[in-house]
Formats: sequence, C-alpha cells, structure tokens
Amino acid sequence: MEKNEFLHDLKTPETTWKGSGRHYFANGEVSSEAGVITEAVGPHGLYWCLDTIMHKVPDDLIATWQMPHYHVRGYETFFVDSGRLYLYINGQRTVAKKGDIVHLQAGQPHGMTFLEEVKWRGTYHDFETFSEAADVGRVKKYMPELKDDPELAALMPRGEMDTVMLEPFLFKDVPAEECSAVRNVSRPLAAYEFPGLSMRIIVERWENGGTKEMACAVMEPGFTAEWVKYPPLRELFYLRSGKIKFTVMGREFTADDECVIDIPRFAPHSMEVLERSELFDLGGQSCWSMFLSSYDSVRTRTPARLEKGALEALKKKFNIPVGKIGMK
Ligand SMILES: [Fe+2]
Repeated sequence: MEKNEFLHDLKTPETTWKGSGRHYFANGEVSSEAGVITEAVGPHGLYWCLDTIMHKVPDDLIATWQMPHYHVRGYETFFVDSGRLYLYINGQRTVAKKGDIVHLQAGQPHGMTFLEEVKWRGTYHDFETFSEAADVGRVKKYMPELKDDPELAALMPRGEMDTVMLEPFLFKDVPAEECSAVRNVSRPLAAYEFPGLSMRIIVERWENGGTKEMACAVMEPGFTAEWVKYPPLRELFYLRSGKIKFTVMGREFTADDECVIDIPRFAPHSMEVLERSELFDLGGQSCWSMFLSSYDSVRTRTPARLEKGALEALKKKFNIPVGKIGMK
C-alpha cells in the first residue's frame, strides 16, 4: 500500500519512527527507545513530536533512579499512553498513569521513575539541541571502554536536549489531582460545549511562554468539521482514542487510536467523527482558549454582535481556520 504521508500510526513504530535512539540503565539494560515522528521547525522548534518507550526501572534501582533534571529553555508535554510512573516535581512525588498528560516548563526541575513500561509520547518546543551529543555517542559506540570516561562526558554538559542534571529530589507524596503538572481531559482548565463537541483546554498559552497551547476536542460520532478553503496553518493532531475519517486534498483515510495526523498548510481538509474521539492539537498555533472564552463572552453578554460578523472577526483574530462545524 502507498504510504500515507499525513498519517503516523504510533501502534506500528516499526513503520512510523523516523530514526531512533536508545538510552541505558546503569546495569546496561535499555532504559528507553525514542523515535522521531515529526521534526522541529522554525525558531521555536514547533511541531516536534517524539514517541518514546520508557522501560520499567529495575526493582533494585526504583529507590534511586529519578532522572532529576531541568531544561534551560525547552518545554515538554507528554501523553502517558500505558503504564505508570512516579513524577517528581515542585517538591512533590505523584503517580501519573495511562490517560494522564504531563506538562513540564522551561526551568522547572522534574524527574521520573517508570514503574511499568510506559508509552511516553511528547510534543516539545523551544529546545536548544546540541550536536556534541551525536559526536560523543559515536566515540562511545566505537570505543565502549570509554563510555564512563568523565572527560568524554564533560564534552556534552547539557546532553543532546538542553538538559541539566540535578541532585535527587526530596519530596512529599500527593495524589495526581493535587499536582499541577499532571493534566487530564476529565479535569480541563476550561471546557466549552457545542452539539457533538466539547473543547477542553489542557495547557494554556501562558504556560508555554506564549508560544503554543494544547486543546483537546472530545467529539461524538457524526460530528463534522470543515476547515477554510486554504488553511493558513499546518495542523498536527494526536488522535489518542476514537475513529475519525479525514479528507485531505481529496484523499480520504481513517485514523484511530494513537495516530498522529499531519496536515500541511494550505491543504483543503475536513473530518467526520466515526466513534467518540479525543483529538489533541499538538501544533498549538490556533489560540483556542482565548477564542472560546471570547466567543462565550460575546454569546452571553452581547449576542446581537454575532449577527454582525463577530464570530468571523474572532476567528481571524485568534487564528482559527475552521470554516464550519456540525452534526451529520
Ligand atoms: Fe525533561
């Protein structure tokens, strides 16, 4: 079958991952395997999506393996799509589990201990990347006897990804609901209801340095959306669960659980929801949160303005390239 360049099914990493990297526990076992789904673009490194399998930390390392670190400029938002982990953040330790979303900000110390095998999918931005890591990695690959040489490690002090390691954390245990870094579609920061559609705000723009945000559309079967004729934004979606028929530039395809949909700028497109779906906006360039709160304000306080083009004006102001929505 011809490869569909708009659809990346994370259920089949062997065909979806473009390039991959591995990390190791102190005992030499593989700790994680990461694959590139989409590359970072532009000065803020937007539209970057990686899929990582984090392996269970060996029992004898669970008490000490925290991976404590922070990123100087980079932001990360992860989907926990299987298993459980300890998240260490803000002086707390909490358990994040399948269905949660973990949001980590620039300069915010964090660490993780993976208690089971975790599908750890992420979108990242504003990372400085350092090419020294690949060059140091090559020396280690050819000369494994040097892999623990501190002189070699000192050549890549911030790793590949803007990372500074820290001392292990002291912490108090709290439930995930009390940890601000752990998000869930069932407890959004805000929600806006329409027939067949609930728009949930998961990460606000101000939590990402003003660069992007993350909304989730929870949609019922029969819900349809059509974008404007030539949408001025590239869209990158994560369909975490459900089933949706997309039409992109006249080509029809169906996406289901754990699929990334990458729709280029200017490409005419539409979608029809076939089963209840949770679709996340990974690109984050539309200002959904401000658009929806503004629309709610107009609808409530000055509804007559909607007859005079207020909705179209808000869509333009907040980069919302959706033409019309409805139920089939
Ligand atoms: Fe991190």
